[in-house]
Amino acid sequence: MLENKNIVLGVCGGIAAYKSCDLVSRLIKAGANVDVIMTENAANFISPLTFQALSSNQVSVDMFKEPKYWEIQHISLAKKADLVIIAPATANIIGKIANGIADDMLTTTVIATQAPVMFAPAMNCNMYENKILQSNIARLIELGYYFIEPGEGRLACGDIGKGKMAEPSVIEGYIDNMLNNNRDYVGKTIIVTAGPTREAIDPVRFISNHSTGKMGYAIAKRAARRGANVYLISGPTALDIPKDVFFIPVHSAKDMQKKIMEHFDEAHIIIKGAAVADYTPAKACDQKIKKKDENLTLELVKNPDILYELGKIKGDKILVGFAMETQNLVENAKEKMLKKNLDFIVANDLFTEGAGFAVDTNIVKIIDRNGNVESMPKMSKHQLADLILDRIIKL
Ligand code: CTP
Repeated sequence: MLENKNIVLGVCGGIAAYKSCDLVSRLIKAGANVDVIMTENAANFISPLTFQALSSNQVSVDMFKEPKYWEIQHISLAKKADLVIIAPATANIIGKIANGIADDMLTTTVIATQAPVMFAPAMNCNMYENKILQSNIARLIELGYYFIEPGEGRLACGDIGKGKMAEPSVIEGYIDNMLNNNRDYVGKTIIVTAGPTREAIDPVRFISNHSTGKMGYAIAKRAARRGANVYLISGPTALDIPKDVFFIPVHSAKDMQKKIMEHFDEAHIIIKGAAVADYTPAKACDQKIKKKDENLTLELVKNPDILYELGKIKGDKILVGFAMETQNLVENAKEKMLKKNLDFIVANDLFTEGAGFAVDTNIVKIIDRNGNVESMPKMSKHQLADLILDRIIKL
């Protein structure tokens, strides 16, 4: 339910504006107060009166019109909002906001607000695939804005492709999730591992990988927000330690395994986001290795497969793994899930743009024990974190 929530709905000029009428009535039915701001172009598609009647509130279009309230309206709406949703969001509004342009009621409100802002894009498929638009979206996601991926199908212009605004019921679901900040993890203890491991060669050098820890940290943050008791066991990263988690820094795979086992008994859920080095030097030298010969051979030995070991003793705990692949994504991930006795695995392909290390978004497939493969659209790692947590709660 959305009782006592103030939602500002920005409507831009696109044919999908008609779907936003349904969105308003759904939000009102769920108990929210909705203030609609329309761009001037939106008012060419739908009359402000329609939104006024549906929301029982004045609708803002022109910033310089006779003020309806005493306050400066774009600031008052920006302050009052618990959430701003822009639906439909055109390429124009996304471009403006990504570049800090504030030249009408909607853009000024978005720039003045401290509330979360979500975009539900709707446009022609070629416009949606356009590199400028995509880089604007990527920039906004990086800055903490949220996007609800458009659907694919026959568009109003007759083209077939991606660009249909998400259905109002889907948008409502996202809003509900964001605003209700479910405390559905109260009483649950989660171990999240994140980042790379470092395997020492000598006191100066190590073997590692490109993991930045972003996905694991996003899960730890969201789980803590949802009320979980979180142990974040992390290899070295450049990220800030999230608030409200019990942070345990580690270096090697063996350190990581030891720390997990110290908290294993109390955990209900273990999510293994870390990129664990599979091999470690047979012996780390005590002193710096000096350069001598043309070639240097390092002997590596296998590290424990932490997740495999956890799978053997998991009992009724929920165990979730990640798989980073460069080929045969689904096959390889399925095999890992079964071998490691996981409840589900989150698989991504390193070579897909917008997925993998160092980026703020991910594009994954979630594969469960029944062999169901669900392909997720591109989304921020925080959105994906919530989705993974939603799935775990259902189990
Ligand atoms: N994992 C682990 N211990 C290891 C290696 C991996 O716990 N020594 C975990 C990771 O945290 C991840 C999952 O297993 O959740 C899959 O990791 P990945 O590196 O994709 O697979 P591997 O099992 O190492 O297989 P390969 O490297 O052959 O793809």
